[in-house]
Amino acid sequence: MPNLILRPSWWLPERAVTPEAVVLNRRRFLAQLGCAGVVAQGWSAMSAEPPLSGPYGKGYPHARNKAFDPGWTLTEAKAATTYNNFYEFTLGKDVHRHVGRFETAPWKIELTGLVEQPLTLDAAELVDSMVLEERVYRFRCVEAWAMIVPWTGFPLNRLIDKAKPKPEARFVRFVTASKPDQMPGIRGNPEYPWPYFEGLRMDEAMHPLTFVAVGVYGKPLPKQMGAPVRLVVPWKYGYKSPKSLVKLEFIAEQPKTFWETLQPREYPFESNVDPEVPHPRWSQATERMIDTGDRVKTKKYNGYADSVAKLYPHA
Ligand code: MTE
Repeated sequence: MPNLILRPSWWLPERAVTPEAVVLNRRRFLAQLGCAGVVAQGWSAMSAEPPLSGPYGKGYPHARNKAFDPGWTLTEAKAATTYNNFYEFTLGKDVHRHVGRFETAPWKIELTGLVEQPLTLDAAELVDSMVLEERVYRFRCVEAWAMIVPWTGFPLNRLIDKAKPKPEARFVRFVTASKPDQMPGIRGNPEYPWPYFEGLRMDEAMHPLTFVAVGVYGKPLPKQMGAPVRLVVPWKYGYKSPKSLVKLEFIAEQPKTFWETLQPREYPFESNVDPEVPHPRWSQATERMIDTGDRVKTKKYNGYADSVAKLYPHA
């Protein structure tokens, strides 16, 4: 996706040029890295038993919500935690190699704007105060790769309720961390409009599927997946799920988003998964599972039409 815009139109995305064998070899190489690599990167894909100490480590694994456990085969954790998009660190997929200096505690999250109760929360206290549950969701990137992941967290509407939004709040703008000293991609790519920011309509944000993830695979989120707190909006393309949140701003007008600012034609505000609407430069009819390489048919709203189609009566 995104980095393509800074390249000529004939440039192919990584998925189109990286043979699966190369990806597999990289995984083998990572497996051989051993403990030194694991310590340097915090808990990452390579660690079979990551430590559960630390501010976000309590109570894992949390009970899986049966309503969100359709019995799908989960994506291999190693794949999900070593093939990531987090441009603040790198434009490559090996984000886990670049997060060593990223400090995720202490961490503040601000709820501001058109609310009765503006709040600044400590992330560890927030995580402690919420009843956490695990949900298995499909996750679909606009780059046509996909995964099936067990997230731990809570519905976003429970956080929003704390701030008591005013009736005129019609959108939520999400702002993520900008720590240039710890996030090498920020200084390395000054042409991007940092910090990463996203937005949802209020009814999308309040929808019970919209999830605040603080863990994955029964453990606290690894840094490369958006520690300590990220959003997961499973019926939208992955870029609508901002990582490492620091601010939720309740506003009246539809906000611009990071990718929309750069390429409005390619990354519009709504961005619901739709196999019939191709990206201007590639088809969205199928997707590649990041662990097996299997190509499967993409589903409208990423398979969540029963829950969310009613939000889009004109679609
Ligand atoms: N959030 C921030 N802060 N920065 C990013 O670059 N990339 C987005 C999204 N959230 C991104 C982000 C994109 S394009 C995708 S596909 C997902 O994160 C990837 O999530 P994952 O790496 O956990 O699979």
